[in-house]
Amino acid sequence: MSAEYRFNHKHIISIDDFSVADINFILQTAESLKEISTRSIKKVPTLRGKTIINLFFEPSTRTRLSFEVAAKRMSADTFNISASTSSATKGETLIDTAKNLQAMQPDAIIIRHSSSGVPNLLRRHVQASIINAGDGTHQHPSQALLDMMTVREKKGRLDGLKIAIIGDIAHSRVAHSNIMGFSKMGADVHVCGPNTMLPAGLEGMGATRQTSVAKAVFDADVIMALRIQKERQRDPLIPSLREYASVFGINRAMADLAKPDALIMHPGPINRGVEMSPDVADGSQSVILEQVTNGVAVRMALLYLVLGGD
Ligand code: CP
Repeated sequence: MSAEYRFNHKHIISIDDFSVADINFILQTAESLKEISTRSIKKVPTLRGKTIINLFFEPSTRTRLSFEVAAKRMSADTFNISASTSSATKGETLIDTAKNLQAMQPDAIIIRHSSSGVPNLLRRHVQASIINAGDGTHQHPSQALLDMMTVREKKGRLDGLKIAIIGDIAHSRVAHSNIMGFSKMGADVHVCGPNTMLPAGLEGMGATRQTSVAKAVFDADVIMALRIQKERQRDPLIPSLREYASVFGINRAMADLAKPDALIMHPGPINRGVEMSPDVADGSQSVILEQVTNGVAVRMALLYLVLGGD
């Protein structure tokens, strides 16, 4: 890292906003903060006095909890609010909700929403840092960062690796962030899925579209399977889950086409037996739970960097 480098982002909206130096710095920061979670007393005073609001309009297990764990490990005060328990149910607009949260003077608002672009909209209406915890089909930047951290930790590098991303690419914010992130860091990203789940413009995003899963995973260093995002599809896009699993599911035979030490990844939640067979998800190459562990470290790093912890 050059001596002049400075992390200069108040908000975390999209992987596209980050340079290679930014991504390296976030991962480096996360790697150094990871050790805190292994201590018997898992708490440092770094963000003492900071107020962080988790505003989740869509369900979440990993992202919401790991942002909260990350904030608490650095002594910030955290507050959770979900769509079902907020006054959004009484007709309050999102902007009004955000302005009312701002009136309580938080330092950061972490937002998950079903509409693409909401974090970008909110940052124009509040003074707090906005952190995108997943917006529609657009972006899930902290997921891509934790995925890159996991691969770099295991492989020692990102550049030159073959990354195969299989599944519902069109509706997956994880896919969009990962394609941008891994290709920006010099990896060779190959994608495959049903034609109805592959967006236009993949090449512009830095990915190679493959016509079969076998071609995508052949000699890969990483296989990442994605869930079908049924909640973002108006009409059925595949004939049946059984047919999907037989053509696009990552089973043992498919995983064996990759390098023998290939990493098996999934952002979760997994639909076992659909996008991935249980023996692969739980096998020795799987780093799925290590992704979750690194999620806490990456989110600690993001909060630390945007809130200017000392
Ligand atoms: N990977 C991910 O975003 O999981 P959650 O929906 O449980 O947060």
